[in-house]
Amino acid sequence: MAITRDVFSSRFGFILAAAGSAVGLGNIWGFPTQTAGNGGAAFVFMYMVLAFCLAFPAFMAEIIIGRHGQANAVTSLLNVANTNKQKRFAFLVGIVGVVGAGLILSFYAIVAGWMMAYTIEPISHIFFSSETTGWLTDFSLSRNLIFTFIFILLNIWIISKGVSNGIETWSKRLMPLMFILLIILILYVFTLEGAAQGLIAYISPDFSRVFEPSLVLSALGQAFFSLSLGSGVMIVYGSYIPKNTNIVSLGAQVTLIDVGIAFLAGLLIIPAMYVAQAQGVEIFSADGRLLAEDTLVFQVLPSLFNNMGDIGLLVASAFFALMSIAALTSSISMLEGPVSYVVERFNISRVKSALYLGAIIFTMSALIINNFDLLFGFIITLVTKYSQPLVGMCCCIFVGWIWQRNSLLNEIKQGFENAESSMFWKVWPIYTKIICPLAIGAVFLHSIL
Ligand code: TRP
Repeated sequence: MAITRDVFSSRFGFILAAAGSAVGLGNIWGFPTQTAGNGGAAFVFMYMVLAFCLAFPAFMAEIIIGRHGQANAVTSLLNVANTNKQKRFAFLVGIVGVVGAGLILSFYAIVAGWMMAYTIEPISHIFFSSETTGWLTDFSLSRNLIFTFIFILLNIWIISKGVSNGIETWSKRLMPLMFILLIILILYVFTLEGAAQGLIAYISPDFSRVFEPSLVLSALGQAFFSLSLGSGVMIVYGSYIPKNTNIVSLGAQVTLIDVGIAFLAGLLIIPAMYVAQAQGVEIFSADGRLLAEDTLVFQVLPSLFNNMGDIGLLVASAFFALMSIAALTSSISMLEGPVSYVVERFNISRVKSALYLGAIIFTMSALIINNFDLLFGFIITLVTKYSQPLVGMCCCIFVGWIWQRNSLLNEIKQGFENAESSMFWKVWPIYTKIICPLAIGAVFLHSIL
């Protein structure tokens, strides 16, 4: 089976595509709302520590497995295994990852659909009656189905164009746009009354809370989700990195961008909450915590936008456009995971694979939408609390315990000749062998017990 594999055309292309996958609703919604719900700066501090000390080493494990295997997640993992037992294990981990990626997309697309509807809503005021515009923001079956469908179609369209023409091209277009929107919104919010107070709340940590178990747990989960770990997606992206590229600095740059954008998103959202407060919007719940989760995004911020008058329409639309764009560059990686497997394993064309898998994933989304209370939270928990940490931990085990050390070093050396004498090679192997699996395992046990 001689398929010529498409690769990212440049280092910059990979960085934007991987950062596109990493930077998503997890950063722009998840991170600020978790920060709000977990005592502000203490959470920011813990998140940064865990992102660099635990998520980054695990991220490196995945992209290195991928670049070595030059194939989808399952085949790449199989490539590292030596014995038959290890191969069965590799297959299982790979398949759980691939299915997990599809499941993530099935709920992510629903949320992204809401973001798109909220992006159009302020503009639709100009042309339509309030009945029509109300449909866009009311939680209805029809709205949820239609926007989820549109969002999945966009994914199918981009993925069917391939790695360099689809994923890379669109990441290069959308990521800068997203960044500019984010900066403009931050600058705007900082001109408003109350923002300074929010800034202080955001950057002055209450160190007594830093080691609260629930805070550490949420921070690690958040870091894992944010770097798109534990679903084989980064194995696949790693497989599209050319061999002559220094994969270590590449990984570090992507991690930095991911953490940096999460930080910037907090710089937008937490001050915006305090601006809302200055305008009379309630931002604390009865127990004195900052309102978080969906209340924050769909109630607190919209009431702020409403108070802004005409410019509020523009700001609201820009804010939700930012969310939609971030969601799209992430979700394409979730579809690419399963698509790359089906293309390479069953020799089915990319266009067909994207269509079939997109249809299956949409069916799953429709099922969730129809049984929202029952399934939405359940699927999110299943993947983010169980399969992602487990698959992420197994990838570390593959690199730390199964992959022969020399072969691993040789892989890293391609594009990074001095790897052997680098700080990275002194520290990272111990991390993937012992610290990451233990830490992830501990967090996993803690969260299920
Ligand atoms: N990292 C993305 C975010 O922060 C979500 C994401 C994209 C993801 N691809 C993934 C999460 C694969 C887990 C697995 O929103």
